[in-house]
Amino acid sequence: MDELAARIGVFVCDCGHKISDFIDNQALVENVAALPGVVLARRERYSCSKAGLKRIQAAIAGQGLNRVIVAGCTPRTHELLFKKACEEAGLNGALFEIVNIREQCAWVHGDKAQATDKAIALVRMGVARAALLEPREPIEGHVTPAVLVIGGGTAGLTAAVAAASGGVPVTIVEREDKLGGLVNQLHTLYPTGRSAQEFIAGRIEAVRGNPGITVLTGAHIVAVDGSPGDYHVTVQRNGHQSTLNAGAIIVATGAQPSRPRGLFGYGRPRVLTQFELESLLNVGEVAAQDIVMILYTGQGEQSHLDGLGCMTTLKNAILLKKASPERRVSIVFSDLPAGEPYSKWIKEARGLGVRFVRYLPHRRPHVSGEAVEVHDDLTATDVNLPYDLVVLSTPLVARDDAPVLASMLRLPRDDNGFFPDVYTRLKPRDYADDGIYVCGSAHYPADTAESMFQAYNAASRALRYVTSETVSSQAAVAAVDERLCTGCGTCVETCPFAAIAIGKGEGVLNLARIDPLRCAGCGNCVVACPSKAITLQSSTDQQVMAQISAALAGPTDGKPRILGLLCQWSGYAAADLAGARHLSYPPNVRFVRVRCSARFDPYHILWAFLNGADGILLAACEPGDCHYTLGNKYAEERINGLQRVLAAAGFDTRRLRLEWFKSDDAETFVNEITAFADQIEKLGPARHSS
Ligand code: FES
Repeated sequence: MDELAARIGVFVCDCGHKISDFIDNQALVENVAALPGVVLARRERYSCSKAGLKRIQAAIAGQGLNRVIVAGCTPRTHELLFKKACEEAGLNGALFEIVNIREQCAWVHGDKAQATDKAIALVRMGVARAALLEPREPIEGHVTPAVLVIGGGTAGLTAAVAAASGGVPVTIVEREDKLGGLVNQLHTLYPTGRSAQEFIAGRIEAVRGNPGITVLTGAHIVAVDGSPGDYHVTVQRNGHQSTLNAGAIIVATGAQPSRPRGLFGYGRPRVLTQFELESLLNVGEVAAQDIVMILYTGQGEQSHLDGLGCMTTLKNAILLKKASPERRVSIVFSDLPAGEPYSKWIKEARGLGVRFVRYLPHRRPHVSGEAVEVHDDLTATDVNLPYDLVVLSTPLVARDDAPVLASMLRLPRDDNGFFPDVYTRLKPRDYADDGIYVCGSAHYPADTAESMFQAYNAASRALRYVTSETVSSQAAVAAVDERLCTGCGTCVETCPFAAIAIGKGEGVLNLARIDPLRCAGCGNCVVACPSKAITLQSSTDQQVMAQISAALAGPTDGKPRILGLLCQWSGYAAADLAGARHLSYPPNVRFVRVRCSARFDPYHILWAFLNGADGILLAACEPGDCHYTLGNKYAEERINGLQRVLAAAGFDTRRLRLEWFKSDDAETFVNEITAFADQIEKLGPARHSS
């Protein structure tokens, strides 16, 4: 047997009858059997059942298959299962291919003949790609059994003690000169009313008394190097720099109170923030008799309610009223959170005589030298509240140094500048790199209880990570062909993960080197490389172009040939959801899945147009939502550039469209792809229009 020739087995799944009710699977099998490289094509009632998997495994051995394709459901749910079965039968998992004829064919096209034709085209694309697949070996790396905690507030201190309990050395790097973070400024904690100073002193003592924890105060991170599992972190302290090695990094940098400059008279005497009030309470009694607290949610008033700010306001209003029942305390608000624990605290405050005045966001209170003037929306009256003290509840905001840290650690940031929690829509991975965990208010404003909970969680995951002797990854990554690399450094500039460095090659040339453990496989460098010296495993130029050519081959029934290049996290996921909901769209569209829009290559697009595509829709994650941080930004720049080139050549650029999608917005996906197909139909064949 020729070792290099592809021997492809194609298993067409009936999915019980969920596919075969809509597609003529017998006709599909007969067509597929004639494709080049296919040595076996047969139907399976349930490919993913135990018996189905066993039959696939037996065929690998019995027929000498060196590529396996299952034409069935979405790869998003079953790809791993099939890969594992192939590996058990001795076939490298990277030589498995899944063709989605269920969500993206059977369930979205009502006409069985049309659905069957499309299924034949989809399997033809899969076979073309499978023939070019190459085996892939796992990448392994060494792990440094040490944890670095950035931030010495509640979350950082808790995480450090928890991580040290696992027997690994822990270092805390704290920017301030003392440990404790924001709690140092607080008087009491809610809901317990416990002294904040007592609480934080206990946490600090636990850290100071732990021989496994090194504390560096007055220190900050200036650079992060190395790979997941073996980070080299440069720390600056007292004018000196030193390097720490850590397998995992816990980011517990917290948040900071905003200063409401220019708002509500802030800056005048007797107008202060809740944090400043807490500091006053820490040093003694507050003598003011008339206190007005203004609760606002931020500059726009429309931002989400800050539950922490609200609880702090209620807590301090109750505390001040209890300390001196005859004093007058008012809370001026535009919105209050509903439900527990807020309603209980609001009730208690009302019971103690705290007055609540509600203002409309467009009629903000005015703070004069003597009184707070506000239109009370609840009683429809103008109210004048004299004050000795105005206390502004200011939201916690992301720290000033968050952008710097984000870029060093390649952390994503949300609209408010915080490091967001896991991607809630799809959760592909927690952060850009393995071994980096975020906890506490670095995520979003969190109280002490929540910060501690998150810290324990982060510490246990970091501990599990650094106590494994090696880290390994099966992921498809980019690799440089040293014969083609000119060392120009374009890839280094465009890698969002800092996974590429320029090293010395033979002779005068420099060479790009990719750290496979750092590479996230977005494909950005592959597209950016001017020498075409970089390949992305499982998404090589040859594989993508073979798929595109196969998509554009075959009869059209007079319909335009429409191609969709879909980012797997947005467009592809939305198309899957459309399938699951049986939302229909035209059958003359063919989808090619890529990991990220960073892999949208203008050459592939030109190739597709030259080979008969009448329209190409590119589906990417919305700005700010790319799972590889900047892929969609690069994609947009490239596609805009390509549009300009095409326009200059007299090509109708309406044939190429880049759209943003959400993974869970199937309706928008269906509407867009349908509208695009309609438009291309009206434009007619591409080769006659330009
Ligand atoms: Fe969807 Fe990058 S992951 S555009």
